[in-house]
Amino acid sequence: MIDGLEGVIAANTVLSDVDGLAGRLIIRGYSLDDLAGRTRFEDVAHLLFDGFFDDMPSDLTRALGEARVAVFAETVAIDAGLLKLTPVEAMRALTARLPDGDGLGAALKLLAAPAVFIPAVVRAQAGQSLVPPDATLRHSADILRMLRGRPASEAEAEALDAYLVTVSDHGLNASTFAARVVASTQAGLTSAVLAGVSALKGPLHGGAPGPVIDMLDGIGRPENARAWLEAALDRGERLMGFGHRVYRVRDPRADVLKAAVRRMSEGSNVLPGRVAFAEAVETAALTILRDRKPDRPLDINVEFYTALLLEALAFPPATFTGVFAMGRVAGWIAHAREQLVGGRLIRPASRYIGPRPRQAA
Ligand code: ACO
Repeated sequence: MIDGLEGVIAANTVLSDVDGLAGRLIIRGYSLDDLAGRTRFEDVAHLLFDGFFDDMPSDLTRALGEARVAVFAETVAIDAGLLKLTPVEAMRALTARLPDGDGLGAALKLLAAPAVFIPAVVRAQAGQSLVPPDATLRHSADILRMLRGRPASEAEAEALDAYLVTVSDHGLNASTFAARVVASTQAGLTSAVLAGVSALKGPLHGGAPGPVIDMLDGIGRPENARAWLEAALDRGERLMGFGHRVYRVRDPRADVLKAAVRRMSEGSNVLPGRVAFAEAVETAALTILRDRKPDRPLDINVEFYTALLLEALAFPPATFTGVFAMGRVAGWIAHAREQLVGGRLIRPASRYIGPRPRQAA
């Protein structure tokens, strides 16, 4: 029995490769370092989808823009029940309104869905009027415009693209595995994406960056870091943004995002101080984790600098998991298609350890 399926290979994939010892991530033949900061999200989605749909256009920018407009027009009706949910729960409920399908049309609407729903829910919850999508904009710029009601700067759109590209796919992580299991039953792409969203929202997976902000706010000043972190570990808590099932070294995505935050901080009065503070907390956490767990390498993961980047882009912490879904949805869809065209029903076995039936007296 392998606890948590650690090390079990459950699929062949052409989509991405995570090397946990070298700290390397390859997305469809490209190193993450060559993609993030240089490529737009729609281009990486194109890369991931390539070969899995018959009718792919050469560029997804316009088709994705039109999908945002269609999703907004057909699906965004925010009722009182949705306003009581967290943004990711409301986004999941709205996504469930999309019909299941297997083709490119269904895939593009699902690719657009978190990007349209999260800004709409945030604005509705704040009592603000909704900002409809603009099909002519690049995806990242339109997300920021729909969220904040004003055009994004080039630097902001680039920073969000760097993030969305960085999280677009990552091997057989928990949410991607969940999506592949559902896809293997031929339930359809919406069902597979809903499984992905549901797995992503847990704090051990994509739900960590909101709590990273809570941690930074709780610490408050660099000189408090050590005592605060020691106290959290003494209470049996985990440090959010640290540790990973696969990486035994630094998660390469952390440094890509740290570089993106640094680029954004040029010309800002506030951000450099926030970055320096986060670095002090990172250093203290790594020292403490090394002292306390000498046999288990625990390093920084993607979520720590995700928190800083999304905060700098003015996403409320409650939306961070939903923003993660805006990027990872590309991977879920590609994996679902890959499972559907080349895989069998996923149906592992369990070992029964309960009581045997009693003999009738
Ligand atoms: N802080 C403190 N201790 C930790 C942490 C952490 N962040 N992560 C793992 N450990 C400890 C565990 O307590 C355990 O110690 P023990 O053996 O003395 O009980 C040991 O390291 C191994 O932990 P596991 O739970 O077996 O490791 P696993 O591979 O299952 O966990 C996980 C990976 C869930 C990411 C874990 O490191 C964690 O909880 N991190 C904090 C939450 C987080 O940042 N999640 C985002 C992950 S990135 C992503 O999914 C996008």
